[in-house]
Amino acid sequence: MMNTQSLIEFYGLLPHPEGGYYKETYRFNGIIEPACLPSAFGEARSFSTAIYFLLPVGNFSALHRIKSDEIWHFYEGCPLHIHVIHPNGTYELMVLGNDHSQGQSFQLVVPAHAWFASEPVGAEGEFSFVGCTVAPGFDFADFELADADHLSFEFPNHKAIIQRLSR
Ligand code: GUN
Repeated sequence: MMNTQSLIEFYGLLPHPEGGYYKETYRFNGIIEPACLPSAFGEARSFSTAIYFLLPVGNFSALHRIKSDEIWHFYEGCPLHIHVIHPNGTYELMVLGNDHSQGQSFQLVVPAHAWFASEPVGAEGEFSFVGCTVAPGFDFADFELADADHLSFEFPNHKAIIQRLSR
C-alpha cells in the first residue's frame, strides 16, 4: 500500500478547502440547463462528476453541505466516519470501509443539503482513500462550509460535534 505522500504525488492530488486532498477524475462532457435543475442551482451544471479524496489520519473534512446527493466509495486505508446532520436536525454516523462485520459499507450516500464532515478512524493505516461522485456535477458555487457558531445555534443538540469538526 502506498503512503500518504506517494498517493498525493501519484494521483496529483490537491488540497481541498474542506481538508484533505482531492483530484477530479471525471466530469461528464455535457451540461444540464438551469430550467431542468432545481431552482437552488441557478446556473447550468455538468451531468455528473467524480473525485478521488484522501484524508490523512488526524485530519478531518470540515462540516459543509452541497446541493446534490454525494455517493462515497471506499478504496483503501482506514474506515472513514461520515458525520451527517440532516436538515430536520437528525444526526447520523455513516461508516465507509471494507469490514462488513463492523457495519462498514463500500458505498454510502450523503443526501443533498445535509451538513456533513468526515474523519479517518482506526489504529491501522495513515489515511482513508475514497471517492465521491455527484449528479448534477460538483461546482464550488454549490459548496458551503459551515459557520460553527451559526450551525450550533441552529442545532444546539449537536454543538460538540459541530465545534470539533469545523474550522
Ligand atoms: N470536486 C471538488 N470538490 C468536490 C467535493 O467535495 N465533492 C465532489 N463530489 N466533487 C468535488
